[in-house]
Amino acid sequence: MCGIVGYIGYKNAYPIIIKGLKRLEYRGYDSSGIALLNDSTQVYKRKGKVADLEKFVESGDISGTLGMGHTRWATHGEPNDVNAHPHVSMNGIFTIIHNGIIENYSTLKSKLSDRGYTFQSETDTEVLANLIEYIYVKGKVDAELAVRLALTKVIGAYGLVVMCSKEPDKLIAARKSSPLVLGIGDGEYFIASDATPIVEYTDRVIYLNNEDVAIISRDELILKTIRNDKLTPKIQKIDLGISEIEKNGYDHFMLKEIFEQPRSILDTFRGRVSQDKTSIHLGGLFNVEERLINAKRIVIIGCGTSWHAGMVGEYLLEDIARISVEVEYASEFRYRNPLIDKDDIVIAISQSGETADTLAAIQLAKDRGALVLGICNVVGSSISRETHAGVYMHAGPEIGVASTKAFTAQVTVLAMMAAMIGYKKGILEPQRYHALIQELSDIPAKIEKVLLHDKAFKAIAEQYQNATNFLYLGRGYSFPVALEGALKLKEISYIHAEGYPAAEMKHGPIALIDRNMPVVVIATNDKSYEKIVSNIQEVKARNGIVIAIVSEGDKTIKSMADHVLEIPQAMEELTSLLSVIPLQLIAYHIAVLRGCNVDQPRNLAKSVTVE
Ligand code: G6P
Repeated sequence: MCGIVGYIGYKNAYPIIIKGLKRLEYRGYDSSGIALLNDSTQVYKRKGKVADLEKFVESGDISGTLGMGHTRWATHGEPNDVNAHPHVSMNGIFTIIHNGIIENYSTLKSKLSDRGYTFQSETDTEVLANLIEYIYVKGKVDAELAVRLALTKVIGAYGLVVMCSKEPDKLIAARKSSPLVLGIGDGEYFIASDATPIVEYTDRVIYLNNEDVAIISRDELILKTIRNDKLTPKIQKIDLGISEIEKNGYDHFMLKEIFEQPRSILDTFRGRVSQDKTSIHLGGLFNVEERLINAKRIVIIGCGTSWHAGMVGEYLLEDIARISVEVEYASEFRYRNPLIDKDDIVIAISQSGETADTLAAIQLAKDRGALVLGICNVVGSSISRETHAGVYMHAGPEIGVASTKAFTAQVTVLAMMAAMIGYKKGILEPQRYHALIQELSDIPAKIEKVLLHDKAFKAIAEQYQNATNFLYLGRGYSFPVALEGALKLKEISYIHAEGYPAAEMKHGPIALIDRNMPVVVIATNDKSYEKIVSNIQEVKARNGIVIAIVSEGDKTIKSMADHVLEIPQAMEELTSLLSVIPLQLIAYHIAVLRGCNVDQPRNLAKSVTVE
């Protein structure tokens, strides 16, 4: 959801903010805006991309060493110039940018209307700006107190930055359930929704906690709670290189991230698989190993692609560690009064570590006494801090909205967990344990081999770019891959696609099959191979077009499918790490050929921090 950037220091704020907005654009991109404080407050906002804002600002006054910017993913009010942030309070005293949702905004709005306030936009953020101003004027308090008091009246989520024209030497930032990071330079401070706009200036950061407020002037940073308890800032070092957040010659971040997977998977298991490839150590789980070994039930929660990875995790943990697993959409879990207690272990999977539904589901599981573990990519994210223990994915920043390398990193972590638990439980024989570790170590090189066939994936994309429906089929470990392949296509090319367990096809989707319907079947060499061959025949009997992902050397399917795409042989438990790659690339090429904005697909956001 929305991206936030702020700067206060001795340099011109505008270039820092506009660059920061570009880095954060993946979070939301329906409109953007900027506010600068020099002799007066300058506000520029525009529907569309940050580039549209940049053009619009060209002839304006962009001086000032203090300012902030916002890139939006609309929740309240359609994306247009007026609803874009920043929002200015009615009398121009406060300017604010906000990520999140003020749930009681209509009550607050009507109270403010009764007191004479008028509103330009349909947003909840403008209500907050006016509430702060009302408290400031009426209570004759300073800006900091006005912000803190206003926030005690707010129900909902916020990551926000506030400027006050009457106190022009400070920025006030606050968070609740929407991430904010402060970067500390020499005589300058940066604020952002994540560290990407900050890394090129400083590696020293502070992650704000829920209900923290930061009062930032050029020479001082004061941190307190909204109830005025003083806090000692905990400065951390971020380990993120600038090259990791640039495209490095690729046309899109998504393509770069797909091609990064051999390296990102290596980074995920580096230091966790012993050099001699005989054991797995997951430091983040050290204190809870005993609980995992004795677990009777694990519930995995996540959203989107992370939920798909969770499904692969279910197969892995049940198959290898013999623990009963349920996989739940976090958004369903949190609202359906689930049976969870202190004997349960919940694993929350999230690339961003900020997904609102997953965070709420974690809270519910914690309240009921469960042990909650996290599998997150973003270091220091809310989920990584809210969980009792966990494993970082170390996949590096994922900027493309359609998740790719995060999926394979999540599956890698889950495979390591399953193997480690199974082995320590005495259920997984040493031979299979060592074979799994060896296979995991071989996966990066095998992915390199799959990537060499990119031309073949592009050729499929060229042939089927105009199809209106796709079906993806898989069985066992390949079923979640079918779901993920369909999701990738939907997300970025806007073609309707469905993932289905191959055997279930007979209970519905088979009715859709005709000579125009491409059916992507993941038919690798595993225990359901014979069955999936029958499913391919069923599709062919109805004149469907079969695009099969098969294991190298397969002859049977070659004779019946319209197209065959080979991937290297691998152990069934880990094949998803290979079979997903062609599906990512086919979706990517189709989207490019259809002229879609691959990295910023319509209506989507990278990190969904609203429920
Ligand atoms: C959004 C993103 C998806 C992602 C999902 C869950 O929908 O567009 O790519 O899979 O959120 O995000 P998380 O950060 O929790 O993995």
